[in-house]
Amino acid sequence: MGKDFDRIIDRSKSLAIKYARRKAVFGREDILPMWVADMDFATPDFVLDALRQRLDHPVLGYTLRPKSFYEAYKAWAKKRYSWHLDLEWLTFSPGVVAALALAILSYTDQGDKVVIQPPVYPPFFETVKGLDRELVLNPLKRLPDGRYIMDFDDLKKKIDAKTRLIIISNPHNPVGRAWTADELRQLAEIALDNNLLIVSDDIHADFVYKNYKYVPIASLSPEIAKISITATSPSKTFNIPGLSTSVVIIPAKELRDRYNEKLHAAHLWLGNIFGNIAFEQVYNNGEEWLDDLLDYLEQNVDYTVQFINENIPSIKVWRPEATFLLWLDFSGTGLTHGQIKDKLVNEARVGFNDGLTFGKQGEYFFRMNIAAPRAVVKEALERLKSVFG
Ligand SMILES: Cc1ncc(COP(=O)(O)O)c(C=O)c1O
Repeated sequence: MGKDFDRIIDRSKSLAIKYARRKAVFGREDILPMWVADMDFATPDFVLDALRQRLDHPVLGYTLRPKSFYEAYKAWAKKRYSWHLDLEWLTFSPGVVAALALAILSYTDQGDKVVIQPPVYPPFFETVKGLDRELVLNPLKRLPDGRYIMDFDDLKKKIDAKTRLIIISNPHNPVGRAWTADELRQLAEIALDNNLLIVSDDIHADFVYKNYKYVPIASLSPEIAKISITATSPSKTFNIPGLSTSVVIIPAKELRDRYNEKLHAAHLWLGNIFGNIAFEQVYNNGEEWLDDLLDYLEQNVDYTVQFINENIPSIKVWRPEATFLLWLDFSGTGLTHGQIKDKLVNEARVGFNDGLTFGKQGEYFFRMNIAAPRAVVKEALERLKSVFG
């Protein structure tokens, strides 16, 4: 049952944000929600069973996170990414965005500069600005075929004495790149030359399609590991973001100590019992489920890309190397961004993320989440075709 990805589950009464905030975000309830980056699939049965089993014990008090929690991630990183970790490098965060915030607090002062690479996940902007650090934009370059690359020349020009760290998204949300070892190495060399730390948000690490690879930047060399902070989580991979349980990998002891000080100062180290259990379960037992999920998602990606190419020539889509997010380019419609948005919501009645929330590079773009039963994806595409085809 847990692997029946075609099963349509009614989430509308579960307060799922993707559903419950339709009116607030789109102005109407009757849209097909394909925005917030969680999946419309059931959490795996073996996870739900383990959580139920914990409920047989009637006390849900303060509870330790066992060593086996970190061992589970260490084993997963070795199996899935050939990344060999020391157990002591691993620490905790409730969420990946919380880890980015803690890293900013740990390694920068107010007024210091933090680099991000738009178009990128909106909290990157909000977290840096909200903590009173100066945001420096190093936009990705879009090639004519729709593929994005990092702009290293621009990055070098923008670094000055106040620039302390760069936050990257690997694989990148929303452009779907799984950065190559070569690209990451070039970035790391610039960071090493300029005393920059690299904070890598790798929450989409497990969604890499055939012929591509997730490369953890810290795995490239011991020297690069020493300037890197990697935050990741099983929350996307196994559809458990509501359990708020993530892991942070900081090989350099001095950087790890500073991070842990802030983690403890904010009293965020504790986590929750259910997150601890699910985390260990998925990393110990989740490979088969994930491989089936990846097959299903890749078919959704193929179906969507082919459908758009054949039926909606005014929309351009680049096939992502990773993530379940498609970055759709509507510039060929000849409409303004506002007109496209209005048509998506009020005529097609689909809820996609507005590209402009990812930075001004997102003008004419909307992000579609295809992690849904195929019938739902097909319905969204038919609606798109009826308005833009
Ligand atoms: C790149 C990226 N980072 C972080 C998150 C959220 O992570 P968390 O809920 O663990 O803070 C998301 C969710 O969409 C994401 O896409």
